Order: sequence, then C-alpha cells, then structure tokens
Amino acid sequence: MLFKITVLGDGGVGKTALTVQFTMSSFVETYDPTIEDCYRKQWVVDDQPCLLEVLDTAGQEEYTALRDQWIRDGEGFLIVYSITSRATFERVERIVERVLRVKDESSLHNNSPYGSYQNHYQSHPYGSPTSTSRPGRIPIVIVGNKKDQYHSREVSTDEGASLAKALSCDFYETSAKTNSNVENSFKSLVRQIKIA
Ligand code: GTP
Repeated sequence: MLFKITVLGDGGVGKTALTVQFTMSSFVETYDPTIEDCYRKQWVVDDQPCLLEVLDTAGQEEYTALRDQWIRDGEGFLIVYSITSRATFERVERIVERVLRVKDESSLHNNSPYGSYQNHYQSHPYGSPTSTSRPGRIPIVIVGNKKDQYHSREVSTDEGASLAKALSCDFYETSAKTNSNVENSFKSLVRQIKIA
C-alpha cells in the first residue's frame, strides 16, 4: 500500500532533517534550503507493510507558488514549526487552512465520492476536544520540532497542543537530532490516512 506524505512548514524548521532522520536514520547538521525532494521508505505499520513516499518541500517564501501542487499531491500532511521560533508557529494555522481549502477544492473538482472533507475547524478561542480519527478528515499532524533545544524554547508544549486541538490535528514535539517522536509522528499520519 502506498502512502503519499507531504511535509510543510516555514524555512529552517527541520523538514529535511525530520524526513532524512525518518527515512535514512541520520541527522543533517547543515542547512541547505530545499526546493523539493522525494524520499521513499518501506515500513510496517500495525502489521501491514507499506511504502511511504515523503515529499520534503521548500519553506522559503519564494517557493510558495509551488505549495498548492504539493498539497494536491499529498494524502497526509506533516506541518512543522520549530519550538525555538514563534514566527514559525504562527504560520501553522494558515498552512492548515490552505491544506483544507486546496483539498476541498480538488475533491469538488474531481467529484470525489468522499465529498467535502470534514476537519472540524474552530477559530480561536480554542474549542472543545474533538476526535482526530474520524473518517473523512484530512490527515494532518502538527509537529513542534527541535525539542532538544529547550534552552531556546519560544513556544510552550501547551500552546502547540492547544492549537492542534483547535484545528483537530494530532500533535507531537519532536527532535530530528535525537530522533525523538519522529517515527511516532509519521505513524500517526499513516494511521489517519488508512481511515480517511
Ligand atoms: P527549508 O528547506 O529551507 O524549508 O528548511 P527545513 O525546514 O528543511 O530545515 P532543515 O531540515 O534544513 O534544518 C535547518 C537547520 O536546523 C539545520 O541546520 C538542521 O541541522 C537544524 N535542525 C533540524 N532539526 C533539528 C532538531 O530537531 N534539533 C536541532 N538542534 N537542530 C535541528
């Protein structure tokens, strides 16, 4: 079974580092801005073999024109910010909205049997908890990366969790450097894609 995952988020938050840690078990120290790279990994989730195609995208502003196509190509989305940069956290909500809008448009355009997607979007103030495992929802996991850099933290775990809850997305804080929660984030996404 093939799963197409798109990794989105601001420049420098660690999209490449997370993708490379997940697919190749190594940490990329250097920062080389990405335009677009595709990685593959064979994996077993809940006893089921699967092939993951992970699209690592550009976070730099000048490439946003490509973003809608990356969204159309993906089935599940890892939306990444850095816990050391509030500016990157503040972009998350807009990226989630964009994913929902583009997926909604393409499902109408394709006359999808699934109709409109049903992420339960609630604007601030944060609303009540909603289950993230409802069929028809667009699979999205929000990831606060660089948690090993706790001394430079600008966004609390609670803020990340609250935003994810308000947007009905799963949430993890990760470190691509120490390989913390990286597999869990991808696993959560694969499980959501399976039931979407
Ligand atoms: P763009 O390609 O511009 O969109 O950036 P990106 O989001 O792919 O960031 P990238 O993975 O290239 O990481 C940027 C810098 O942050 C690199 O120097 C990485 O080594 C570093 N980095 C990424 N993840 C982590 C992490 O979890 N912890 C620490 N300490 N550094 C990280």
